[in-house]
Amino acid sequence: MKALILSGGKGTRLRPLTYTGAKQLVPVANKPILWYGIEAIVAAGITDIGIIISPETGEEIKAKTGNGDRFGAKITYILQDKPAGLAHAVKVAQPFLEDAPFLMYLGDNLVESDLRLFIEQFKERSLDALTLLCAVPNPSAFGVAKIDEDGRVLQLLEKPKIPPSNLALVGIYLFSNHVHHAIANIQPSPRGELEITDAIQFLIDQPKKVEARQLEGWWLDTGKKDDLLEANRIILDTRLAAAVEGEVDSKSQVIGRVQIGPGSRIVNCTIRGPVTIGNDCYLENCFIGPYSSVANQVTLIDADLEHSVILQGAKIIGIQQRIVDSVVGQRAELKVAPQRPKALRFLIGDDSQIELA
Ligand code: DAU
Repeated sequence: MKALILSGGKGTRLRPLTYTGAKQLVPVANKPILWYGIEAIVAAGITDIGIIISPETGEEIKAKTGNGDRFGAKITYILQDKPAGLAHAVKVAQPFLEDAPFLMYLGDNLVESDLRLFIEQFKERSLDALTLLCAVPNPSAFGVAKIDEDGRVLQLLEKPKIPPSNLALVGIYLFSNHVHHAIANIQPSPRGELEITDAIQFLIDQPKKVEARQLEGWWLDTGKKDDLLEANRIILDTRLAAAVEGEVDSKSQVIGRVQIGPGSRIVNCTIRGPVTIGNDCYLENCFIGPYSSVANQVTLIDADLEHSVILQGAKIIGIQQRIVDSVVGQRAELKVAPQRPKALRFLIGDDSQIELA
């Protein structure tokens, strides 16, 4: 069995973070979202992985993720020249997939689930498609499934205004080679994309064997700021192991599960885990509260932080109020003069949000 990870697309929802980078590389607990998916796929025993990339962000994904050696996998990058839909991505990947059954994984999803159970059901029941579902409060934002008591899928609709159930399609699917025939027979949707939901509906109508399985753990579609913060909180809560490699001076206090990468210096700070701090950071006179992730090469001086994600190379200096529920982009700088500031001076990127609450 092969795997296909979709990491193309436009990434409009995480703007402004995704103006300069791929949304699948936005870090959660200091690791790109995409890497969690690769690790889960390898843990399920699949090592032949194709990754769909776009012309805009593909090089960055390739450079960061590499040929798969670090994951014990073989990664093949497949260029999709435009984001023409999930089914279009499968079409583009057909030379890589050949006739193999495959697991398809949307590169911006984070799931707590053992993919092996899912693969076993697909193989044992000789299915043509298996979709993973999760009950959500806002099904209209997703693909939605209607199923019968035996888990057979009766109908699938992409982002319906009136959803037939509260069961959203999680971005993980298993397919036999029949899906290629289905994709060859569907037309672009009103939003102009070749929808994988339409291809699955085609399989249902054939009829081919299509089943669904409900997800047992959590699922996060990291499309928006609050989703990203929630994913960060859950990963720090469930997966972070304490490891202090950087230098912590005697005036600092490190409490609970805290990770500090090599080359980082912590001076007169209180750090209360779960917190992860990357490599080569400098922190002085700071309080870093639970559920914060600080990426590599960040400078924090006279700052208070909690439940926030600070990306690579950012600088925060002299902010008296606690920074909460925030995401600060790469190389962004927030500085307040030590004397009471008389003016506010900004250079803020498009779609940024600043809230003095
Ligand atoms: O997150 C789950 C949802 O994902 C499902 O419930 C929906 O049925 C499914 O259509 C999908 O909806 P989204 O609107 O969230 O899809 P998005 O455009 O965000 O794309 C998902 C991933 O696939 C993302 O990593 C980008 C990539 N992608 C997307 C398109 C449209 C591609 O690689 N190529 C594409 O053409």
